[in-house]
Amino acid sequence: MTKDPFEFFQECFNQAKLLNLPQYNSVTLVTATPEAKPSARIVLLKGIQEGTFRFFTNYQSRKSGELFSNPQAQILFYRPEFGRQIRVEGRVTKASAADSDEYWFTRSRESRIGAIASHQSSELKSMDELRARVAEIEKQFEGREVPRPENWGGFALTPDYFEFWEDGLHRLHERITYTRDGNGWKTNRLFP
Ligand SMILES: Cc1cc2nc3c(=O)[nH]c(=O)nc-3n(C[C@H](O)[C@H](O)[C@H](O)COP(=O)(O)O)c2cc1C
Repeated sequence: MTKDPFEFFQECFNQAKLLNLPQYNSVTLVTATPEAKPSARIVLLKGIQEGTFRFFTNYQSRKSGELFSNPQAQILFYRPEFGRQIRVEGRVTKASAADSDEYWFTRSRESRIGAIASHQSSELKSMDELRARVAEIEKQFEGREVPRPENWGGFALTPDYFEFWEDGLHRLHERITYTRDGNGWKTNRLFP
C-alpha cells in the first residue's frame, strides 16, 4: 500500500506486455452522457505519460461526444492471466495536436487511411460504402503522406482514483484503493 499507484499500474501493464498477451494494452473505457447514461467500449491504452492515461480515437464518435460534454471517465484493465483488475477514474482532456500527430505517424498508412475513412459511430449503409471510401482516400493521398485529420486524436485521463483488485483464494480477494489527496494519495482497503 506504499507504492505509487502509477508504478503499481505500470507494473501490471508491463507484465502483460512482457508475456506478449493478446491485446495486452486493451482497456474498457466507460463514459457517460451529462444525464449519466453510461456506455462502455474497448480502446487501446497508448501510454502513461505525465500522470495521464492516453488513448486515441475519432473526436466525432459516441465516446468523444460524451467526453466533450462530460469529462468524467473510467478505464478498466483486466488480466485474467494474473488475476488482476484495475479501475482508474478521473477527468479527461483532449490531447495536444502535437501528441496526436506523434501517435498518428506511428500507425501504418493503411490504418491511417482506415481511420480517415471511418465516420466512427455514424450509420453506415453497407461495407461496400466503407470500401469505396477507403479507395477514394487512397486515391486522394496517392504518392504522398496521409496527414492526421482534425477529427482524430488523443485524450488524456488524469486519475483521481485507482482501485487494484487481486484474486485471492476462497474469495478472499484484495482490494486496495488510492484517492487523490492534495499532491499525494490516500490509500484504503475494501471488503472484496
Ligand atoms: C481490441 C480492441 C481495440 C480497440 N481499440 C480502439 C481504439 O484504440 N480507439 C478507438 O477509437 N476504438 C477502438 N476500438 C473500437 C471501439 O471498441 C469502439 O467500437 C469504437 O471506438 C466506437 O465506440 P463509440 O461508438 O462508443 O465511440 C477497439 C476495439 C477492440 C475490440
